[in-house]
Amino acid sequence: MIDVRALAESEFRAANDLFRRALLHRPSKDEDWERSSGRYELGRVLGAFDGGELVGTAIATTNELAVPGGRVAAGAVTGVGVRADRTRRGVLRGLMRAQLDDVAQRGEPVAMLHASEATIYERFGYGVASRHRKVELERARVAFRDDAPRGGQVRVLDWDAAGALLPEIYQGFGVHRPGWIGRDEAWWSGVRQYLGEGCLVAVHADEDGADDGFAVYEPKSGAGGATVDVHDLKGTDATAVAELWRFILGIDLVGRVVGHVRPLDEPLEWWLTDRRRCEVTEIDDDLWVRLVDVLAALRARTYGAAEPVVVEVRDAFLPGNEGGYRIGPDGVERSTAEPQLSLDVSALAALYLGDQLPSTLVAAGRVEVRDPASLAAADRLFATLETPWCGTGF
Ligand SMILES: CC(C)(COP(=O)(O)OP(=O)(O)OC[C@H]1O[C@@H](n2cnc3c(N)ncnc32)[C@H](O)[C@@H]1OP(=O)(O)O)[C@@H](O)C(=O)NCCC(=O)NCCS
Repeated sequence: MIDVRALAESEFRAANDLFRRALLHRPSKDEDWERSSGRYELGRVLGAFDGGELVGTAIATTNELAVPGGRVAAGAVTGVGVRADRTRRGVLRGLMRAQLDDVAQRGEPVAMLHASEATIYERFGYGVASRHRKVELERARVAFRDDAPRGGQVRVLDWDAAGALLPEIYQGFGVHRPGWIGRDEAWWSGVRQYLGEGCLVAVHADEDGADDGFAVYEPKSGAGGATVDVHDLKGTDATAVAELWRFILGIDLVGRVVGHVRPLDEPLEWWLTDRRRCEVTEIDDDLWVRLVDVLAALRARTYGAAEPVVVEVRDAFLPGNEGGYRIGPDGVERSTAEPQLSLDVSALAALYLGDQLPSTLVAAGRVEVRDPASLAAADRLFATLETPWCGTGF
């Protein structure tokens, strides 16, 4: 019999050790735990017990998610792990049940996570809501076009000097692009544990001297020449982002530059004289979203100009969400009218931030069409100007 309950503060470290072991990592060193323990919020750290022994854990942190035209309160799920000798006995299922009930009780319409494997979370109603790409460039063969955005200045700082500055710059962006989430103090403190000691920071300031972008990058020397891993690069606008890339691709002695977790629509190849020098070596799932309160979640975003469409949502894990929703530019209501489209809540997550259009999911077999005339309208309703991107690990 598995019991799930919220852990006391004195049990947080054991939960962290269990999670790290489940991911095949060693337990945290004291100083790393000190840096990252702030992410463990009392009441949101769940433990699963078997005969009084802790065998599984899942945590959520209080955050928000940018959705098209707005923001929504969201529980950020992380730290999910089950002890290797207790897997496939329903421990995760018990944790997910307790966690999603808790998220609902807190009035957060959405839960979100990054998944270690793509086969775990759909059964609990999560779906891929954004994707990212990895880009690799051979520095010597890269040149920027004359019409690529230009302006401002880049300066290099070490981590300690950048300490207070990066949160300020990130805060200044606002949580605006669909998929963006907040980064609180605990996040910034914890991230140091995951990034190498050798990381450097480049900050971009605009023509008026205001900081409007940064890159966290890590030069590594190796047999075939030095590689720079770009872990985090964000800017207010295309000029800041282009200048940060221009800077990194201009560092002497660097052979290769690898950009991790980049947005699918980043126009890096468009800025180069030879677009093939920007190799996209991976496209992967980024943020998984669970619409916990479908009505509130759908109401939190805006929709394009089109006739309203009645969509039937199926949700086996949280059946209170099941039923019809009339979605239109003027808002969203529950509806008992004949549904025009029908889909599982995990497929709705793929539409939620604009990563996919309903017509794509029809072809994928994930949306059923009852009224073919509604499909073009549904595409227009869910389409967004920007491709969603989270770009924040948690
Ligand atoms: C992933 C993990 C948490 C699953 O825990 P678990 O207690 O074994 O999961 P459950 O027994 O509750 O399984 C629930 C369902 O998910 C399925 N499932 C669980 N883990 C799965 C996996 N890794 N791949 C595919 N299916 C999986 C089970 O088969 C079961 O399916 P069912 O609903 O058809 O019966 C656990 O294997 C683990 O700790 N893995 C290593 C760490 C990790 O990857 N954590 C996730 C970080 S995002």
